[in-house]
Amino acid sequence: MRRKPILALLMATSLVVGSPVANANETPGSPPQAQQAFDNKIIKRINVDNIYDDIAHLSSEPRVAGTEAEWNAVQYIDDKYSSFGYDTEIQPFTFESYQTPEVSVNVAGEPLSSNSFTYTPNGEVSGEVVYAGLATEDDLAGIELGGKIALIKRGDISFADKVLNAAQAGASAVMIYNNTSGSLSGTLGAPNEAFVPAVSLSQTDGDRLATLLAEGQTIEATVNVTGGGISQKTSHNVVAVKEATNKKKDTNQIIVVGAHHDSVPGSPGANDDASGVAASIELARVMANMPTDTELRFVSFGAEELGLLGSYHYVETLSQDERDRIVGMFQMDMVGSRDAGELVMFTVDGEKNAVTDLSAAAGVRTGNPLGYGQEGRSDHVPFYYAGIPAALFIHSPTEPWYHTPEDSLDKISKEKLQETAEIVGAAVYQVARPDTPALERAKVSPKPVDYERIVGGLQ
Ligand code: BES
Ligand code: ZN
Repeated sequence: MRRKPILALLMATSLVVGSPVANANETPGSPPQAQQAFDNKIIKRINVDNIYDDIAHLSSEPRVAGTEAEWNAVQYIDDKYSSFGYDTEIQPFTFESYQTPEVSVNVAGEPLSSNSFTYTPNGEVSGEVVYAGLATEDDLAGIELGGKIALIKRGDISFADKVLNAAQAGASAVMIYNNTSGSLSGTLGAPNEAFVPAVSLSQTDGDRLATLLAEGQTIEATVNVTGGGISQKTSHNVVAVKEATNKKKDTNQIIVVGAHHDSVPGSPGANDDASGVAASIELARVMANMPTDTELRFVSFGAEELGLLGSYHYVETLSQDERDRIVGMFQMDMVGSRDAGELVMFTVDGEKNAVTDLSAAAGVRTGNPLGYGQEGRSDHVPFYYAGIPAALFIHSPTEPWYHTPEDSLDKISKEKLQETAEIVGAAVYQVARPDTPALERAKVSPKPVDYERIVGGLQ
């Protein structure tokens, strides 16, 4: 267990006088009771049952990017934000998705177990099997492969080069067999018009066929690859905006609260990341009618699980002016598992920033101090690369159900949700409430507490 952060050190600029060491609840700039009164405006309004109910709704099915289920989630989230009075936008973006094909391999009338290689073309090929060694250019010199099925051993060169070399030598399909026990599945890296259908075999089957061929036997086979290929799919971000309510006091700042609504195939994604989306929705509801001097953007990202596609798309659409105005991005991803560890903040570079400073202070004030560490792997990453202070809020260590069908509602803890919503809500409100100056002009640095770096990242 990590130690709790030590008490806050009084900043030289603090208005609090009379003691060299501040109480941990203090934020320089106004007395601690006042700070907590502001926090309480948020905290008393948070209704964790709303968060739980939204998770229940969202996690009724996996929400894989580009599917109808993801679209259903997008509409649900958009409806929620709209109902609170936010201006919302559903932002579409496209991506290429590879569909894994069905494979069957039949050798001398006997079906063999086989996998496809990612990016293999489809096709049904029948022909004579020819042993082609490792399918290096040297191995193939002098071998007649025209219209044949090449039997190739794994090793030395890439799967893609094996397929290209064999295709170049005339092969109509390839069977690459493992050089170790277990089944073989691999990728050809990227689509290539020059590929021929490529499937894998086990080491046992491959060795057996190679031996028979070496003995001079003729072997006929059929390789059938169907239903694979690349298609264009569409995913969506949901962006809900609340402009500063007091135009005279508008600090021109923007705060982004983020989460992702897509899940991995087969997983209901109750914690990953219906929890973060639902917590964002509740904070949006709480703040909807509160006076604020900072623009708030609640963004639910699509296709995070495919490589942070939604958040990269969103950041690409931001003007330089908007990037300059965003003073913090708070990403909540996996914030409600009863089986995970403590709430921590992760930054891409492992350094503190405005988001971690504000949240560490809010954690101390709300009685849940938290530490920080280094991790990417979520939608804070594109913001970091755009020069925006950003952090991932997640419980660490993560639960054993991560990316499994067991990531379901019954593993969700209302206490964990409540704690996260309180800290992020209090930190955001510290900036957004009308009486605090813009971050960059603040006389008082928003660095009220010492907080610890957690050694070791996530698993
Ligand atoms: N919620 C996870 C992030 C995460 C971080 C989980 C650390 C566990 C530990 C996120 O949805 C995720 O799975 N991200 C991908 C990376 C992404 C770039 C595809 C991952 O970590 O595999
Ligand atoms: Zn996630």
